[in-house]
Amino acid sequence: MNRILNIAVIGCGRIGRIHAENLATRILGARLAAVADIAGAAAKEVAAEFHVAKAVADYHELLADSAIEAVAICSSTDTHSRIIQEAAAAGKHIFCEKPIDYDLARIHASLSAVDKAGVKLQIGFNRRFDPSFAKVRELVVAGAIGQPHVVRITSRDPEPPSLEYIKVSGGMFLDMTIHDFDMVRFLSGSEAEEVYTIGDALIDPAIRQAGDVDTAIVTMRLKSGALATIDNSFKADYGYDQRIEVFGSKGSASAGNRTPDEHLLMDAAGLHHAKPLYFFLERYAEAYVLEMRAFVEAVLKNQTPSVTGREGLQAVVMGLAATRSLHERRPVKLSEIV
Ligand SMILES: NC(=O)c1ccc[n+]([C@@H]2O[C@H](COP(=O)([O-])OP(=O)(O)OC[C@H]3O[C@@H](n4cnc5c(N)ncnc54)[C@H](O)[C@@H]3O)[C@@H](O)[C@H]2O)c1
Repeated sequence: MNRILNIAVIGCGRIGRIHAENLATRILGARLAAVADIAGAAAKEVAAEFHVAKAVADYHELLADSAIEAVAICSSTDTHSRIIQEAAAAGKHIFCEKPIDYDLARIHASLSAVDKAGVKLQIGFNRRFDPSFAKVRELVVAGAIGQPHVVRITSRDPEPPSLEYIKVSGGMFLDMTIHDFDMVRFLSGSEAEEVYTIGDALIDPAIRQAGDVDTAIVTMRLKSGALATIDNSFKADYGYDQRIEVFGSKGSASAGNRTPDEHLLMDAAGLHHAKPLYFFLERYAEAYVLEMRAFVEAVLKNQTPSVTGREGLQAVVMGLAATRSLHERRPVKLSEIV
């Protein structure tokens, strides 16, 4: 008999809506049983759109509901570790958006609660599920490029987040670059040893006043001996720019931007094709489906999720090291971050 996993989405903002839609329409083996948002209207709206029976403002009601077996935590980052610990204590399996938290003690408390309860935890590093990025990793693991020497990631947003968002986001490295840190680990198969960061507010001085940067370059020495670079910007005029490359002793494997269509216009001014897909919701649409499918499957088959809490922790350690490096203007070893 095929079992169906009853899952609830907590937080019905930008990413919560995507996961709610996928769970309601694209994930075999899952049923979107309920949604919650502290803004009750947002929960009701999502529930109405996807025909969900239960919409509440207080997610504790869902944790107390024995029919709900798993939760997808999509609320703002400052709520994640608290909800992970409460959900684990209630025996729910957990999908949690990145980052787990900005604070290492709270992350450790969350991971301990998950271990103690024996529930599954998967972190929302969706880019691992992008078919092109996954293929590059597969090639690296198969030895197709030999020994990896350089991992190169370009990751630029089409527009900066609001200043309100920036002030509570934990900063560029913990909110945005965290995906790239995870990609460096994923693509290289190595932990980072040391991080050096330079950054500035070149787009909007108000971002500096809010305590953040909008443009950054992160360089890293990995434990494998390979080197890695990440370049980030909050504003690429041509759209969401997401490119990766692993260069090694026998070659290079890379993946570039995706466009909405493949047309090519040639005229006197040059060759023109479509701009990259606008932002993460479009660019990683497929990856969001695949990561949730993987989570549901891991729960139903009682397997360890492929992106564990430890992956979530390591990326935060890299983000904290990058932030310290920026502020102290020096290379920072990951071992300094405890
Ligand atoms: N993996 C990705 O690609 C990706 C993309 C965007 C955001 N995120 C992460 O997802 C999280 C949410 O980001 P977003 O952009 O959707 O934010 P958002 O502000 O659009 O949505 C957050 C929602 O959570 C709700 N919320 C806040 N506190 C709550 C609580 N205590 N209980 C229930 N609901 C609560 C808010 O009312 C809001 O509707 C963040 O941690 C962010 O880092 C991940």
